Amino acid sequence: RSGAGTLATAVAAALPEARSSERLTIVYGSQTGNAKRLAEQLASQAEAAGLGVRLLRADAYPTRELKNERLLYIVISTQGDGDPPDDARGLVEFLAGKRAPELKNLSYAVLGLGDSSYPQFCAIGSKLDTRLAELGATRLFARGEADLDFETVSTPWLQQALTQAKETLKPAAAHLATVTPLRPLPAAPAFHRDAPFAAELIANRRLIARGTSARGAYSADKDIRHIELSLEGSGLHYQPGDALGLWPRNPPELVQAVLETLELDGDASVSHGGHNLPLRQWLGEKRELTKLARPFIASHAAHARSDELNRLLAPDNAAQLADLLSRTQVIDLLQRYDGQWSAEELVAALRPLTPRLYSIASSQKAVGEEAHLTVAHLQYESEHGPRWGAASHLLAAAEEGERLPVFIEHNERFRLPADGNRDIVMIGPGTGVAPFRGFVQDRAADGAGGRNWLLFGNPHFRTDFLYQTEWQAALKSGQLHRLDLAFSRDQAQKVYVQHRLREHGRDLYDWLQGGAHLYVCGDATRMARDVHAALLSVIAEHGGKSAEAAEEYLNELQQQGRYARDVY
Ligand code: 2AM
Repeated sequence: RSGAGTLATAVAAALPEARSSERLTIVYGSQTGNAKRLAEQLASQAEAAGLGVRLLRADAYPTRELKNERLLYIVISTQGDGDPPDDARGLVEFLAGKRAPELKNLSYAVLGLGDSSYPQFCAIGSKLDTRLAELGATRLFARGEADLDFETVSTPWLQQALTQAKETLKPAAAHLATVTPLRPLPAAPAFHRDAPFAAELIANRRLIARGTSARGAYSADKDIRHIELSLEGSGLHYQPGDALGLWPRNPPELVQAVLETLELDGDASVSHGGHNLPLRQWLGEKRELTKLARPFIASHAAHARSDELNRLLAPDNAAQLADLLSRTQVIDLLQRYDGQWSAEELVAALRPLTPRLYSIASSQKAVGEEAHLTVAHLQYESEHGPRWGAASHLLAAAEEGERLPVFIEHNERFRLPADGNRDIVMIGPGTGVAPFRGFVQDRAADGAGGRNWLLFGNPHFRTDFLYQTEWQAALKSGQLHRLDLAFSRDQAQKVYVQHRLREHGRDLYDWLQGGAHLYVCGDATRMARDVHAALLSVIAEHGGKSAEAAEEYLNELQQQGRYARDVY
């Protein structure tokens, strides 16, 4: 339904005869869609300027053509801990490896996207940029490194990319004249990231009761919410696998705490980037307070004249800094290290607020104009008071009838098989189970003939079995064919979903051999890595394969769209 795929095909198809010497190639690797959107934007601008363009997702790029490429732009994001997006794994590995060709005739530039609250910020963009130069290619202009508020960096980068492409290539107007005009793009939805829809909250219930187990020592304050939002009147549509974007606001208590700590006046008007707003509004609605990033720590180190903070920023303290970034918010830093800020400086130094994405937990075939979410309410007690995640707290505290600014983020790479007769294996511990509720609803509504196998895990059966009654009903009615559970803390030894995968390796391999599609959703850094390793060992053991052959088998699945991950 999104115009994205259409544009890619249309642009590539419009210039079948454009030779690589006259053509710009744009390759993107994208996990959440931002890199893709930017690459598409550049492609249509270059095309409008009369240049020959082809736009390709990284896993569709034929690497053998690299040596003939004349002008290449790469737009690529970096996942949490320095990993490439799934669709770019192959290209990144190819370029890093021995088979990568000399690229003396190639001019290129790289735009990296990332999240500066991770230490490996934009690592993949940087790696590709360095490697292409090493292979002899000419860097046309400096790499862009875009943070969550990517427009600040991407807008000038795209502008420069366009200017440089025009200088480097001859316009291909002659070619354009001889081919069928581009199909017009489908009309963009009225509501999108930059013009969100005010969706009414129609249900907000706690999925897990406060723990009353005799065992006592577990996450009694864990708060997982089932949220239902109405999309009525928005014209918004989604498919299972898509995400809902939510623009958060910071809790007023938190904004107040920042104002008090810095002794700033919330009503004081602050002008920044052409906008004039009271400081309280800047901090509540326009700036990130619940995520800390390295640049702000560096600024605060200067404001606080703190040797301790400066030491932490030194390259050999990377591990300590990563630790600080993972469990500290802006307010903690301000309270721990005394420093003077003016309102203007503060607004300029904090990152713009960005939307949060939640995998949608419903199918429109079952719920119509609603979108359901499974949200872990992030909250903990710090030495100075309670701390929250901005979006999850907003949702958890929202009451029925309240309206929240949302949009749909399509995720083309996390899709049910087009053929309903294919089996699917869904691995979704914790809130990673969300999209699979949508998958099962969708397949049931379609009367799909394929089997559905769900693997779910969480700490405790009694308190953490998300959607327990729904899964049990689905098993009974034949909408779910198999359910394997891993409650990690119900026994002395930890049991995780990957242990179940190994235990049932024979069955899993048989399902895969029968054409099943595999899906993984949830924690990226630990769970998805361990599950990946478990899959490899199951394939090796039950397929009688070497480690290398197992890896090839899994890569092949991924390329066929039969191994998809939605991890964060
Ligand atoms: P734990 O917290 O008891 O260690 C959802 O968060 C579930 O994922 C929990 O049961 C959690 O177990 C588990 N989990 C933690 N680390 C994991 C890993 N590396 N692989 C799979 N599951 C993991």
